[in-house]
This record gives sequence, structure tokens and C-alpha cells, in this order.
Amino acid sequence: MTRKALIRALPKAELHVHIEGTFEPELMFEIARRNGVSIPYPDVETLRRAYDFHNLQSFLDIYYAGASVLLYEQDFYDLATAYFARCRDDHVVHSEIFFDPQTHTARGVAFDTVLNGLTRACRDAETKWGIGSRLIMCFLRHLSEEDAFATLEQALPFKQHIIGVGLDSSEVGHPPSKFTRVFERARAEGFLAVAHAGEEGPPEYVYEALDLLKVSRIDHGVRAEEDDALMRRLIAEQMPLTVCPLSNLKLKVVSELTRHNLHRMLERGVLVTVNSDDPAYFGGYMNKNFTDVADALDLNENNIRMLCKNSFKASFLSDAEKEQWCRRVDECVLDAV
Ligand code: HPA
Ligand code: ZN
Repeated sequence: MTRKALIRALPKAELHVHIEGTFEPELMFEIARRNGVSIPYPDVETLRRAYDFHNLQSFLDIYYAGASVLLYEQDFYDLATAYFARCRDDHVVHSEIFFDPQTHTARGVAFDTVLNGLTRACRDAETKWGIGSRLIMCFLRHLSEEDAFATLEQALPFKQHIIGVGLDSSEVGHPPSKFTRVFERARAEGFLAVAHAGEEGPPEYVYEALDLLKVSRIDHGVRAEEDDALMRRLIAEQMPLTVCPLSNLKLKVVSELTRHNLHRMLERGVLVTVNSDDPAYFGGYMNKNFTDVADALDLNENNIRMLCKNSFKASFLSDAEKEQWCRRVDECVLDAV
């Protein structure tokens, strides 16, 4: 039994994926053409070659530029549907998907255009492929608190389609504390909370996400390992970290996958999960993240099954659904190869 076959066979949930980060160059060119928008690259290959990042910001610049060809509801539908097709291929049965409304509303695209396209794709993925999903609206942390409040207001009529709020974009210099009041209001409106913290930012940002934003999960969180008291707290509270190995590699959060702390944290009892973040930009969807990190860190079958179960435990599914999926992971018997 190869690791790859095991990873492919096990059901899993994805908890950290930005829908704008699933925008493959082929689809980008197709949508740009039909919308009459130009892309400052002559072809798909040249664009892909530009995906050579040295940190988070160098990626974000190109990621926001790519998203700017998305104009109509159908564009958002096509984007999400292409992602769900990858979920089907990778046996991802449930996904909690980030979207960045401000990236679109700032260009004059209406909030409901984005949301209607995404929710229609979510419904169709459930019907066609049995893939469950939730949407998480992220605030761009490089923008102001006021801008985030305005975005939250726009989201209120669509509350039934959005399970939670998140925080993404340029981390250093934009601590979670900048958004304490926005998250307070969002939680009062019934949204769950998550936040990117400890990707490039220090452990203090993870404490702020926990204590001020009152998050249910930390996105990335790999730098938490620098603070042992924080590690002990994450373990005691079973606070999930949505780790993204290929993202960490491409954005130089780690120099090599063999140096990634995923295995160490898993062995210590941190509730870590594996996710793809921005798979169109970082070289792989869920199974590629699993396979590459499992090979680099020599993960065994138990580790891999635990990561799959963690993905359900850390999700926003009901307790009954979590138990059912964890049982399915345990019971998944593989034909000998
Ligand atoms: N970090 C912060 N913001 C982001 C990311 C990320 O990894 N991906 C998309 N927006
Ligand atoms: Zn992310």
C-alpha cells in the first residue's frame, strides 16, 4: 500500500482554502477573454512562471491582480465549480471555503454577485458530487477597521449562507487586535470566527486571535511553536491549526518541507490539519499537500488517518457528522496493492 493510495482513499475535509486562490491560469484566461479584460501576461505558461514568490506579500500582489478578472455571478460560479471538481478528484467530502469580498467590492462588483455565484456552486456540488461546504467571509487586514465594518454590514442580509468570518492578507503590521470590535459585532450576529495568525506574524498574534477575536481555529499558526506556553495552551484547548504545507514552502515560511513542524506538532498532540490554501498558486490541491508533506516527514498510516480525522474534528460540522466521518476514516479498508 503506497502512501499516495492511502491518502487518495481516505475521506477528508478542507478547512483552509481561499476560493480566489483556486483560480487556475487556464480559467483566468478564459474568463478574461469572455469579459473583455486584459491580463498583463501573454499566455498561461508565462503567467505560471511568474508564480515564484519570496514571501506572503509577493504572492498577494499577483493573487489580487488575478482576481480582478472576476466580474459576473457566472465567473464566481465557474471558479468555485472548478475547485469542487478538484475536491471530487481528491476525495474531499467537505470544504469550508474562504472568500474575500473586499477584493471584489472595491472594484465595483456587488457583494451579492459574489455570494450568489458561490452559493449556487456550493448547492450544485452537493447535488452533483455529494460535497458539503460552508462559506467563510474574510476581512482583508491591510484595509481599515471601518472598511471591515462596512463589509460586515453588507453580509448581514446573507447571514444564512455564511458560517463565519476570517482574517487574511498581509499579516505583519496588521495584528488581530486591529479588528477586535469587528469580530465582536460579527460574533454577536451569530458568525463563528477564525483568523490567519502565526504564518509570518509572531506568536503574540496567535494569542490576540484567541483572546480578542475569540476564534474557533487558527489558520496556519505554525509560528506558535516558538512559544512553549502557547503550544501547551493549543494542546490543552484542542484549538485547531489549519496548516498549509505547500503554501508554507512556496512563501518561504519554511525553507524545505523536510523542516516543516507539522509532524512534531501532531506528535505533541496539537490538533493540526492539512490544507491547500491557494492551490492554483502553490502547486497542489489537498492530496498533493498530503502526499508531499507525508513523504517529506515520513508520516505513517496512523499519522495520515489522524490528520484526516482532525480535519473533521476541526470543522464546523455537527458532532454527529464529525463522528460519522471519523468512523469512516477508521473503517476505510484499502485493497492491497
Ligand atoms: N495568508 C494571508 N492571506 C492570504 C493567504 C495566506 O496564506 N492566502 C490568501 N490570502
Ligand atoms: Zn490562507
